Amino acid sequence: HASATAPDELVRRHAKPGASLVAVLHAIQDEIGFVPQETLAPLARALNLSRAEVHGVLTYYHHFRTSPAARVTVALCRAEACRSMGTEALAKHVEAHTGCRFDAPHDGKVGLESVYCLGQCALSPAMTINGALHAKVSADKFDALFDAATR
Ligand code: FES
Repeated sequence: HASATAPDELVRRHAKPGASLVAVLHAIQDEIGFVPQETLAPLARALNLSRAEVHGVLTYYHHFRTSPAARVTVALCRAEACRSMGTEALAKHVEAHTGCRFDAPHDGKVGLESVYCLGQCALSPAMTINGALHAKVSADKFDALFDAATR
């Protein structure tokens, strides 16, 4: 229920004295899928940091989001090894197939994000769909994975 995810309650549960800010941000995002802006002030108080420090860390790591993710989030690797294996052509295909654009605000249903290396360089091009890793992704493979994720 609502009070279970209220910002103060989230912070009280995860920001134990001595906890690292990054670990607490991970814990909050793991629980509710994002880190609400409203947690910044209570987090800063609980961890004895300034609000600016909390904000700085939250925005430094691309992993953290401050608003809910789309129902299906596709993160495509655009780094070197994947680029050499056709990531850019795949990106165009993904945009055409989904009707969305990379790194644009999502519509709640589908979000496309660029990431830079998923540690699968030998199996490029690589992507995640809702956090699940997929390697050697072709256009056809993407269509099947995406259609399964949106079903
Ligand atoms: Fe794409 Fe490493 S460059 S997984």
